[in-house]
Amino acid sequence: MIDFADIIVDLQAGDTGKGKVANHLVNENDYTHIIRYNGGGNAGHTFYHNDKKIVTHLIPVGIIHNKKSIIGHGCVLNTNKLLEEITYLENLGFDVKSNLLIDKRVHIVKQEYIDEETDESIIGTTKTGTGPAYRNKYGRTGLRAESCEEIQDYVIDIYDELYGNDKVKILFEGAQGFELDIDWGDYPYVTSSHCTVGGALNNGVPHQKIRDVYGIAKAYRTYVGSKKFEPSDEIFDYIRNKFDEFGATTGRARQLNWLDINELIKSININGVTILIINKFDVLKEIKIFNLIEDNDVKSFESSDEFVQYIQNKLSNNCENLNTIIFSETPYKV
Ligand code: IMP
Repeated sequence: MIDFADIIVDLQAGDTGKGKVANHLVNENDYTHIIRYNGGGNAGHTFYHNDKKIVTHLIPVGIIHNKKSIIGHGCVLNTNKLLEEITYLENLGFDVKSNLLIDKRVHIVKQEYIDEETDESIIGTTKTGTGPAYRNKYGRTGLRAESCEEIQDYVIDIYDELYGNDKVKILFEGAQGFELDIDWGDYPYVTSSHCTVGGALNNGVPHQKIRDVYGIAKAYRTYVGSKKFEPSDEIFDYIRNKFDEFGATTGRARQLNWLDINELIKSININGVTILIINKFDVLKEIKIFNLIEDNDVKSFESSDEFVQYIQNKLSNNCENLNTIIFSETPYKV
């Protein structure tokens, strides 16, 4: 039976450092299961293990901590990419065979879906066949993991796993982010899955079992895709190059803008965030510019203290479930 579940949700448009937070939390807590709840090969999770940089796309971070790591049915996966990632992790010395589990309902990304996306798309996708896989899932013409011979060794029914074991302690690891959610994002500039707490709970976990929701944001925002997002200001070029704001999956330049406080409040409330982690605060300290956007206008602060104070007040007045705010100056490193 399920003891409790913690959920990690990205509050912006992905790339906020949630892989590093997940790695940190798995290290600090006695979770039994880590579950990826949305997305597929479009995601790139970067984290450090014994000072070595590791990038995964599909397999939850639990794998490097010898924990059961489930790809849940909100995800889609390409079997070739999965097998490549298994080999990559095995070569690094991790025991993937004993720990990787794939729910039988997960949909498979076929090569033809990837081919379909090779042309420049209107919204600027990651060209990983993700959108077509979800399209066919909902069109009821897709192929599920249970019918896919090559990965049978890993296929399970998530219900049996979560309810057939004692004291199951779950960490849900999300991909992409709230601003890319198929419903809540800026349609059509969105991904095709649910990047919210709702997406996590859809794995058969009742809401009463939620312990904490970790909302992850950055001190400024980034977005990758074809809509115009970045205002013209040289400072964003500087940040991009100095702090490596390029996609982990596609290498594309991320567009930047300041933190939008109204969007952040919305995202915290809709996801019931209890613990907020604002990453990359060190970047603002280094450039000595403390800006945010409120009601579509840029608001500037004289010091980091003023900036922090303003955000704390604003959030405590507007987000009733939030109990902790962490401004993280260095990325989580385990
Ligand atoms: P798709 O998910 O490949 O269909 O791409 C849809 C949109 O989501 C595009 O704007 C992508 O750049 C964006 N996107 C998808 N996955 C990620 C991610 O992991 N980080 C940031 N943006 C992403």
